[in-house]
Amino acid sequence: MSAPQILMQRGLDRPGESHRLEAYEAVGGYRAIRKALSMSSEAIVEEVKKSGLRGRGGAGFPTGTKWSFIPRGSESPTYLICNSDESEPGTFKDRWLLENDPHAVLEGMMIAAVAIDCHLMFNYFRGEFSYPLARWRAAVDEAYAKGYLGKGIFGSDHDLEVVTHYGAGAYIAGEETGMIESLEGKKAQPRNKPPFPAVEGLFRSPTVINNTETLATVPWIVEHGADAYAQYGTEKSRGTKLWSCSGPIARPGVYELEMGYDLMQFLEDDLGGMLDGVGLKGIIPGGSSVPVLTPDECRGAKLDYEGLRERGSLVGSGGFIVIGDNVSAVDCLLNLAHFYAHESCGQCTPCREGCGWIEQLVDKILLGRGTEADLAMILRISDLMAGKTICALADAMAWPAVAFIKKYPDDFAALCAGPVDMDALAAEVGKRDHILPRAS
Ligand SMILES: Cc1cc2nc3c(=O)[nH]c(=O)nc-3n(C[C@H](O)[C@H](O)[C@H](O)COP(=O)(O)O)c2cc1C
Ligand code: SF4
Repeated sequence: MSAPQILMQRGLDRPGESHRLEAYEAVGGYRAIRKALSMSSEAIVEEVKKSGLRGRGGAGFPTGTKWSFIPRGSESPTYLICNSDESEPGTFKDRWLLENDPHAVLEGMMIAAVAIDCHLMFNYFRGEFSYPLARWRAAVDEAYAKGYLGKGIFGSDHDLEVVTHYGAGAYIAGEETGMIESLEGKKAQPRNKPPFPAVEGLFRSPTVINNTETLATVPWIVEHGADAYAQYGTEKSRGTKLWSCSGPIARPGVYELEMGYDLMQFLEDDLGGMLDGVGLKGIIPGGSSVPVLTPDECRGAKLDYEGLRERGSLVGSGGFIVIGDNVSAVDCLLNLAHFYAHESCGQCTPCREGCGWIEQLVDKILLGRGTEADLAMILRISDLMAGKTICALADAMAWPAVAFIKKYPDDFAALCAGPVDMDALAAEVGKRDHILPRAS
């Protein structure tokens, strides 16, 4: 693999002990925070801005720009939250970082805290993350024991405390304002925006929320400089990205790739191709919320923000789900619909009702009782959901629904009880596929 190892190498260089502070420092850990403490907070923000780092939690928002929204000299305290909820189906790269390199996450949080003048930061874990949580807690204990957290970190006048919080296993707690509600002791129901968290977040104070991978990337950027980071990747998608890969492939697992890497080269060379006897039906490149790509769409696709959008999908959370040709698209969609119907927080009618209706209609089709009208209904409901709710969970259901029917109409028609007019179905898809992501 030609990709540079910005995020994984330090962990891979010290197998079995990579989670320990001593091993982390032996490969240069905690140098970057010392450097950051010698810089002004504005200079740190500028360096991260210049690096081109974009958030790895799904939306790809520029990290330095997000930090720059925090008002300077605010009377209220400023908070930092690391989003370690990682509940997106097919996504397990933050888990790798927390288990194998928790100090990199912690150091990234420290640097972000210094950059936004924060003295109390939080790491929010999904409820099921017991092993990563244990590794994280041990890392925090080591850092406190060494005096790296608490009063005057690294001999500076910056006091910094960290709170570890774990949720109850709700996907919606990963949405940033749902997470804030949960940290405040309420149900994790997303808030209407604006105000955005940078203005009014946790306890109504300015708050930055970043994904675990985003924060774990920051020490490398501060240590080596924005220019060194920006030389990797493409013009608009800088650096490297973790991809968690699953499905009927020879070598599933977590991989770090330079942005812009060729998708088929990744599948065939690095992942070892499909398992014997299984053909490629499609790939969901960015976790269950993003549209599936057919083999034709995969050929020539580049794994970066613009490259995947150009093909009608997204980088999302980097959950690279390979689907074999021995699986029906109807089964895939039912699996996703069941998840989203279960995880909808219920505040918005289009999402609460829509996810449940789509689940029931797909189930009906899978049982051989569906009709062409049911397919048209799924498409119509999806159109009524996308972009019309408080958070993007509704889109996360609508996009895969439209994409699966659009790209695998034969699978759906084959299971319907009556005949399906494929031209009429294609026309129905055409009326609804404006909701899918496309090149901007
Ligand atoms: C339903 C839903 C679930 C989400 N789950 C996660 C998650 O598990 N982890 C995460 O980092 N971001 C998740 N996000 C995105 C966050 O709202 C937020 O954009 C992200 O944490 C910001 O960090 P970043 O800028 O570093 O990407 C989710 C968004 C939605 C709508
Ligand atoms: S879109 Fe769904 S999950 Fe998001 S706030 Fe509305 S009901 Fe809740």
